[in-house]
Amino acid sequence: MVGGRSIVLIGFMGTGKSTVARHLEKLVGWPVFETDDMIAEALRLPVPDIFSGLGEERFRTEETLALERIEPVGPSIIVTGGGAILRPQNVVRLRELGIVVCLTADLATLRERLSPAANRPLLQSENPQDAMERLLREREPLYEAAADLMLDTSSLTPLQTAQSIRESLALTA
Ligand code: S3P
Repeated sequence: MVGGRSIVLIGFMGTGKSTVARHLEKLVGWPVFETDDMIAEALRLPVPDIFSGLGEERFRTEETLALERIEPVGPSIIVTGGGAILRPQNVVRLRELGIVVCLTADLATLRERLSPAANRPLLQSENPQDAMERLLREREPLYEAAADLMLDTSSLTPLQTAQSIRESLALTA
């Protein structure tokens, strides 16, 4: 039992954070805060346009500000973008916000889920596979260090993943 604290979902692109959060929302009735949506709303621009027009650093700054702005009034589900763990101050904030659950998936699953990579600014390179594998290698230790719980979603549907989170953490509606 997590004592009514929020759940923070972290993990690489394609691990299903947003979809899992929507299932979890239905299962436990907690509201969802999604940092990518908050950033897009604050700048009135879709995330890919923020990357292409303003650059990754600006996006990262907005991501930090979005995390600071989240003030849950009760237990909530917080969904982060895949790079939220890049800034140490974000990790401190995530851990302050709640139980940090990291969704993972094996390479073959990620390849499948991230193809095509149309909405993923960081995979817009000549070889998206290489870009993905490099980012994953760099980030894996950061995800592990930030997480209270790691959950491999490779052979789970988003609903099964949400159910597994609910059971592992004994969440009640
Ligand atoms: C990013 C992941 C994206 C989004 C942005 C940067 C990353 O979110 O925040 O494109 O650095 O991995 P998803 O993990 O929801 O795709």
